[in-house]
Amino acid sequence: SLCHLNGEYLRLCDAKVSVLDRGFIFGDGVYEVLPAYGGRIFRFEQHMARLDRSLGALRIHNPHTHAEWLALARRLIDALVASTGAPNQLVYIQITRGVAPRDHVMVPGLRPTVFVMVSEMKQATPAQREQGARCVSADDFRWKMAHIKTTSLLAAVMARQISADVGAAETVMFRDGHLSEASSSNVWVVKNGVVMGPPKDHLLLEGIRFGLIEEMCQAQGIPFELRRITRAEVLDADELMLSSATKEVLPITTLDDQPVGHGAARGRPGPIYTRLYAAYQ
Ligand code: PDD
Repeated sequence: SLCHLNGEYLRLCDAKVSVLDRGFIFGDGVYEVLPAYGGRIFRFEQHMARLDRSLGALRIHNPHTHAEWLALARRLIDALVASTGAPNQLVYIQITRGVAPRDHVMVPGLRPTVFVMVSEMKQATPAQREQGARCVSADDFRWKMAHIKTTSLLAAVMARQISADVGAAETVMFRDGHLSEASSSNVWVVKNGVVMGPPKDHLLLEGIRFGLIEEMCQAQGIPFELRRITRAEVLDADELMLSSATKEVLPITTLDDQPVGHGAARGRPGPIYTRLYAAYQ
């Protein structure tokens, strides 16, 4: 399929980057994953604002305006839809600091490497939504700048593998006994009708769905609170949910082999999830 590399449109299999690219050498770059429904990118401006924040944190200059990014993504979405008919799409944007002789110091004035690709967005099936996600928990061993959406994802890869090794969908992480997030999604806790998430700080990535969940709760009259959440509170939750570009909102129905929730809803998608998923659609 078609992709974009440094101003050129070419086939994905023809796109090549230098071995001295700092993305390859140091993981010195940022990325975004934007969902598109029927070719229309969802929450584009919010994704652009986060991209600007990530680039700013790494002192990389944004090589394109938001309008240019949009035009670029549109062209790739159109090409994908024309060749595959994919109903929904996923746009991946990556910017690295650029190519330079290996040296940790940030070389000023480098031309950032720009890469964009688009693929079909694979969403959970109704059966998978009905079943919910099986998750495992782990210590959050990532670095303390998790708010930056960087391509340095080794810790996220290792965290994800903990759940993959047992055939589970995600790894829910705790730092010093408090919930942070999952390897590539945010985590939500429902207790007594209140939707709770951890505070927005440097220990987690503020998903674009993070603000959206808050907005949807407000619109639905569901109490919403951000605060430190203990492991005991997570284990005693009425409902647990994941959110991300690809998962949208997804119920966690088992954590460490224990069914989530209480009473008749135990181990099943809960009512708050059902309302938020409907609102999301
Ligand atoms: N992951 N937390 C982490 C660590 C993430 O990597 C992601 C997204 C999220 C959710 O953010 P959003 O709602 O903006 O998708 C939270 C993307 C999808 C990925 O790495 O593929």
